[in-house]
Amino acid sequence: MTEKFPEILVTGGAGYIGSHTCVALIQAGFMPVIVDNLSNSHPLAISRIEAITGTRPAFYKCDIADDAGLRTVLECHPCVATIHFAGLKAVGRSVSEPLETYRDNVCGSLSLLQTLRSRGINRLIFSSSATVYGGAEHMPIPETASIQPTNPYGHSKAMIEQILQDLVTAAPDMAIGVLRYFNPVGAHISGEIGEDPQGIPDNLFPYVSQVAVGRREKLLVFGDDYDTKDGTGVRDYIHVMDLADGHVAALQRCLDTDGLFAVNLGTGQGSSVLEIIQAFETVSGKPVAYEVVGRRPGDVATSFADPSKASDMLNFKAQRDLTQMCRDAWNWQQRNPTGYANR
Ligand code: NAD
Ligand code: UD1
Repeated sequence: MTEKFPEILVTGGAGYIGSHTCVALIQAGFMPVIVDNLSNSHPLAISRIEAITGTRPAFYKCDIADDAGLRTVLECHPCVATIHFAGLKAVGRSVSEPLETYRDNVCGSLSLLQTLRSRGINRLIFSSSATVYGGAEHMPIPETASIQPTNPYGHSKAMIEQILQDLVTAAPDMAIGVLRYFNPVGAHISGEIGEDPQGIPDNLFPYVSQVAVGRREKLLVFGDDYDTKDGTGVRDYIHVMDLADGHVAALQRCLDTDGLFAVNLGTGQGSSVLEIIQAFETVSGKPVAYEVVGRRPGDVATSFADPSKASDMLNFKAQRDLTQMCRDAWNWQQRNPTGYANR
């Protein structure tokens, strides 16, 4: 008789963080059931999860707002909990198309929560973001810092956090973990899965790796006149596999304890843009051409986590350093120079 592993509904599981978390879930003895509408991901990610783990997760192309579709999935898979990654994450597009972002993130989450409630699935992990803190004044940022997002994407995350808080108040039998990610980067060590941005990358790491691999001519460094160690922006980069391990730790707590908790997932260390360029050049052996230009509107000088609550509550500490983040991002980039589409 084959052993039956607890099934976990993973919305957005074909995406960047979701696919890495599916690997960590399988390796921790859980069975992911992925629903993803593939609006920002590729189905090949599912085969790559299988290539890494030897296990193929169930996959359904389905929108989280499709109640009937989700019910059918959940009839076949009696999931004990949900990890909810699905949503739109592009900050610039959330400014130009706010309704699209609010509909996908807020309306989508509401619909998903109703479907889950109707099926009695009351354990949930939610992907929030350090962006809910906006321009926090004190570093490192603890979870008690004020919630003051500065763009529609950040507001959508803060709204969902509020909805989840109200839901737990009304239904104390629920267990919800809100995870506020800092800057997830890197890839699985195998190079089978990684970040695959469509078009010109908005974020620093994928842009730097595309310059190193020759896909883009040079990086534009957005400002070198901040009040930081070298004038460029400082962020808390966390390896995506550490982030994935943080989800497993949060899931285990949710399976044992009712109520809502919100924790930062970061390293507590800040790195500047110039330090990232330097680290990437060292790891890849390739020059990363760059030009300093003006500041990007909406950017803050410095953002890094106080990771102590995650350590105390979840016994979670990020293990992988900046060299590993660059090495694994570079391995993924070299093996998949144009992302999933090249194979
Ligand atoms: P991603 O775009 O790679 O993954 C999101 C996945 O959700 C994609 O596969 C997409 O196709 C799917 N999706 C979107 N809308 C959907 C819908 N309505 N129904 C079903 N599937 C849908 O992004 P990611 O980087 O893996 O981020 C995952 C989550 O973490 C998102 O909620 C994002 O806002 C949050 N987050 C990401 C970062 C980051 O830097 N990557 C930082 C903080 C928070
Ligand atoms: C951005 C989002 C944030 C989101 C996070 C996900 C904005 C304003 N914020 O954060 O909501 O949660 O991504 O990881 O978009 N940089 C350059 N050149 C580039 C790209 C970035 O110099 O081409 C600099 C930025 O100015 C910043 C640092 O690199 O100092 C990191 O930028 P990025 O990777 O975009 O992350 P955040 O701005 O922290």
